[in-house]
Amino acid sequence: MIALRPRRLRRGEVVRALVRENRVHVEQLVAPLFVVERAADAGPIEAMPGISRLDLTDAVVEARELLALGIKSVLLFGVPARKDATASGSYDADGIVQRAIREIKASLPEMLIIADVCTCEYTDHGHCGILEADGTVDNDATVELLARIAVTYADSGVDVVAPSDMMDGRVASIRAALDARGRRDVAIMAYSAKYASAFYGPFREAAGSAPRFGDRRGYQMDPPNAREALREVALDVAEGADIVMIKPGLPYLDVLRAARDRFDVPLAVYNVSGEYAMLQAAIANGWLDGERAVDETLTSFVRAGADIVITYHAKDYARRHG
Ligand code: PBG
Repeated sequence: MIALRPRRLRRGEVVRALVRENRVHVEQLVAPLFVVERAADAGPIEAMPGISRLDLTDAVVEARELLALGIKSVLLFGVPARKDATASGSYDADGIVQRAIREIKASLPEMLIIADVCTCEYTDHGHCGILEADGTVDNDATVELLARIAVTYADSGVDVVAPSDMMDGRVASIRAALDARGRRDVAIMAYSAKYASAFYGPFREAAGSAPRFGDRRGYQMDPPNAREALREVALDVAEGADIVMIKPGLPYLDVLRAARDRFDVPLAVYNVSGEYAMLQAAIANGWLDGERAVDETLTSFVRAGADIVITYHAKDYARRHG
């Protein structure tokens, strides 16, 4: 005779909902937005069906729609009109991200605005920092630049700055620069364990940020390493990160779980462009049930321990579950 029957609690949706361990709330989701400086750069992103590069006006429209659906946080990326070797457009007070922060805040004061801090969209060589003569990224010069960018975002009214460059010591530098400027309330969400991943491909098309030579393996993490990710998280927490992030998501759920078990700070995961593209391609072919596949994917992040999920599926999820 079988005494223990777990199936009893799977018999109907009511009982399944009663014993459900994890749920994805729209308030946990962050929608990335690509904002272009030149109207000519706006338009759909081929490998990311449903996602577009938006001019400033449309970015505000999109933010308003997201807010109406219950998505209260956006992550801004800028696509500038010009690039140079030192990313001088990145700390321009009238740069595209700085303007987008001001416009969205002015129209939608209740929206939480997070802005990505990195130079790869602003450098003509496409690397995430200032280069040395031999083509490697100069860590300390880059860190100064990142702090300078973060201050201009703070001056524009950003709520959270999110450094995605993977330079050493940048969280401490950004914190010090923000505090010196009196911007003590601006939080830092650090891309703490960001891997040198193949899954950023579509983003680089979207943001025009592919490196012109070489790759990012000299600063982003080596995919086989998990312990090193925990060390990176520990350093960022010690330097003052308010939120730490693991990126990408699906191929690194083990790292996410390990970080959850070890640290008590809010934990974010970035369900990146290539993960989105992969799912959308299969859905478009009729190979996957889109709604179920998206929900299952987002649930996996929450089950693995994420408090915050940054995802291009945010709007679609909110439309169905808002
Ligand atoms: C900028 C940055 C990247 C992503 C977020 N910030 C690209 C990269 O590191 O090459 C990727 C996001 C995505 O793929 O959705 N450094």
